[in-house]
Amino acid sequence: MCGIVGFTGRQQAAPILLEGLSKLEYRGYDSAGVVVRDGDASAEIVKAKGRLKVLSEKTNGGEAVPGTCGIGHTRWATHGEPSENNAHPHSSDDMNVVAVHNGIIENYQEIKDKLLKKGYTFYSQTDTEALVKLVDYYYKKYQVGPIDALAKTMVRVRGSYALAVMFKDYPGEIYVARKDSPMILGIADGESYIASDVPAILKYTRNVYYIGNLEMARLTKGEIEFYNIDGEIIEKELTEIKWDAESAEKGGYEYFMMKEIHEQPKAIRDTINAVVSDGKIDLSSVGITEEQIRDVNQIHIVACGSAYHVGVVAQYVIEDLVRIPVRVELASEFRYRNPLLQDNDMVLIISQSGETADSLAAMREAKNRGIRTLAIVNVVGSSIAREADNVFYTLAGPEIAVATTKAYSCQLVACYLLALEFARVRGTLKDNDYQEMLRELDTLPAKIEKIIEDKERIQWFASKYVNAKDVFFLGRGIDYAICLEGSLKMKEISYVHSEAYAAGELKHGTISLIEDGTLVISVLTQQELYEKMVSNMVEVKSRGACLMGLTTYGHYNIEDTVDFATYIPKTDRHFSASLAVVPLQLMGYYLSLAKGLDVDKPRNLAKSVTVE
Ligand code: M6R
Repeated sequence: MCGIVGFTGRQQAAPILLEGLSKLEYRGYDSAGVVVRDGDASAEIVKAKGRLKVLSEKTNGGEAVPGTCGIGHTRWATHGEPSENNAHPHSSDDMNVVAVHNGIIENYQEIKDKLLKKGYTFYSQTDTEALVKLVDYYYKKYQVGPIDALAKTMVRVRGSYALAVMFKDYPGEIYVARKDSPMILGIADGESYIASDVPAILKYTRNVYYIGNLEMARLTKGEIEFYNIDGEIIEKELTEIKWDAESAEKGGYEYFMMKEIHEQPKAIRDTINAVVSDGKIDLSSVGITEEQIRDVNQIHIVACGSAYHVGVVAQYVIEDLVRIPVRVELASEFRYRNPLLQDNDMVLIISQSGETADSLAAMREAKNRGIRTLAIVNVVGSSIAREADNVFYTLAGPEIAVATTKAYSCQLVACYLLALEFARVRGTLKDNDYQEMLRELDTLPAKIEKIIEDKERIQWFASKYVNAKDVFFLGRGIDYAICLEGSLKMKEISYVHSEAYAAGELKHGTISLIEDGTLVISVLTQQELYEKMVSNMVEVKSRGACLMGLTTYGHYNIEDTVDFATYIPKTDRHFSASLAVVPLQLMGYYLSLAKGLDVDKPRNLAKSVTVE
């Protein structure tokens, strides 16, 4: 999704904007631009299609656009093709108002028609140009200041926006407005910053404000004032970002994804340690009480992408351990389906970014119906984290690669912890078993380390399949849920068509796609389903499939059936997803690498999907 960076202070703005934008590259973009203003001089806009490198060359690393106040943008096209013309910043014809925007203005056509009648002309196909010109229109029509012009605009537009604006009459100042799109504001001595995400400004400051929905702010050098939609000043609390700057850097790895795969043991350990002490889970930081846990009738898990796959695992685990019904659903479906929700239900939202538009909307739907919402979120202060009734923070640290790995793993662990605690409180798990499972949970980080140590074998196997066209993942029960994630990892970064199937479904259609040499990856971590899985594997092998088997140490007879076997340490069957996913992450990574693709920034994808 689009990325925004802004700066006003004593230093030259353009290099800070370019560097900040480079830290937001992971969000996905197709063009970029900056506008910088030197004192009272008129603002200068430079835009470029393609990678940030092109913009950097065009501006000579920022030197060609001098000035200490500016805003920059990476655009992920929604309205209008990727082009220099459609790239941000956009401006009114007289450069009175210049702005960058992340989000979608749903009624932009209506606004554009109105402005055309008022004599405005349009040069791009974007919704943002209509938004910018509407701000200009209200500013001039009502002869008001920037905050009032923005407030009138916010009342008129529908949709989502993180908007950063510079006005000709207010040199050295940046104005922002926000609804449903992420934006943070940072402050340091004599300097103020805006950004879509923390890594963009982490080098300069750790002190940030979170701007709320339908709020605005005015940034001057080293000072930030916040306003509500009525234009009244409001107070905000300053938050200190705890991430160290290094965690947002590659630290010697070729790609963030590999670094983040290696960070999984620590991330999981941190997530566990935050709520477990003295052999007991303590959810007081989550804020959910034993009474509330006892009252829950049904859990609805809503999420998107990999977070949804975590939900599929959690459904198996929670239903088995807690014996209450769990339904897992894609947030984009849940939000429009008019779901049946009862008073004592709980909606569990899972999201790394805490900004995914569909997950946020699904959560609001539940809240509007008076249902308790519990969110598992990684990004502190994100919209979902702020609006959910209870928040379980995963401690994955910043995840930069588009393909999630460590956040997914922490989300799994958070779900296990919730399942164990619900089971303890509701009496569906004996104390001994609870203790034993907690001890087992503690061993997962070391077991993951062991799997990663063996990564070269996966690399060797992946390199043989660099030309694969179709890959099928097969599993039963939790293994099927793991397959969903393994398949997504493969398609999103390697661009190989892949599908995950519950192995029992194979005969109902899919098996007709298997032909000589088709790669089939089977996951067999569930002891009681092992034999059935082997039968399914034999079926595809006899139709020409090349088989990879992923199972636990000890099941060496799998080598009689498969062409390549990979093993993971034994663990409690409920936790096997945490181990089995790692070789599949590595498989996706190495295939992408072997194909010479940009592992961290796959085409057409954004890290955080903040529009519908
Ligand atoms: O930030 P979220 O966890 O809400 O994101 C949900 C999905 O967009 C995300 O998991 C996506 O599927 C990943 N890029 C997959 O690796």
